[in-house]
Amino acid sequence: MCNILEIIKSRRSIRKFRPNPIPRELIEKILEAARWAPSAHNAQPWRFVVIRDYQMKLKLAKAMAEAWRRDLIKDGVSIDQISRLIEESVRVFTSAPVLIVVCLTMENMHRYPDERRNKVEYIMAVQSVAAAIQNILLSAHALGLGVCWKCAPLFCPDVVRYVLKIPHNIDPQAILIIGYPYEKPKPPSRLSLENIVHYETWN
Ligand SMILES: Cc1cc2nc3c(=O)[nH]c(=O)nc-3n(C[C@H](O)[C@H](O)[C@H](O)COP(=O)(O)O)c2cc1C
Repeated sequence: MCNILEIIKSRRSIRKFRPNPIPRELIEKILEAARWAPSAHNAQPWRFVVIRDYQMKLKLAKAMAEAWRRDLIKDGVSIDQISRLIEESVRVFTSAPVLIVVCLTMENMHRYPDERRNKVEYIMAVQSVAAAIQNILLSAHALGLGVCWKCAPLFCPDVVRYVLKIPHNIDPQAILIIGYPYEKPKPPSRLSLENIVHYETWN
């Protein structure tokens, strides 16, 4: 395996895939990487729904697209533009050989009598789930797979729960679209360290 820093830097969000199926053992390897992410209280608040079936991908993609359509109509976007966006969205989700819906559970997180600390717990769970997602992105890349992290479920959690029969107390956080890359995107620019790092104090 390459150097971890090379893996981190050369990973790109991949949105175009070859149609080749992904062997189950590779999916299990990246889920295994997710399982070893750090988590607050070691609560491991991540849960995963793996979707390989085309009809299920289509059902989910269409349901999310309809939710998006409702938002876009409210935003005043033109019908033609909405149709283009929706069509492309369904195409992207259905063209990936595998989707992983990443969910959050508060089951093993702490509970407090006050709202302030419960909100902090929720943020810790979100951060833990994000760490698991990053492990998936990096391990998939190391194994020759491409992934894009899609935030769509955050905008329509009930729709995702309904289609996938996810319990009401589990929160869909992201969909990872996964496959063998059919593109090699140029690295999007990054802010320089000067722009983002402060030593000792902010000034
Ligand atoms: C929380 C989060 C949500 C994202 N949501 C989307 C998304 O909905 N659609 C998409 O195409 N990319 C999404 N991305 C991918 C980013 O656009 C991408 O990481 C960024 O442009 C940098 O490109 P790179 O991943 O190739 O370095 C998301 C990334 C993160 C971390």
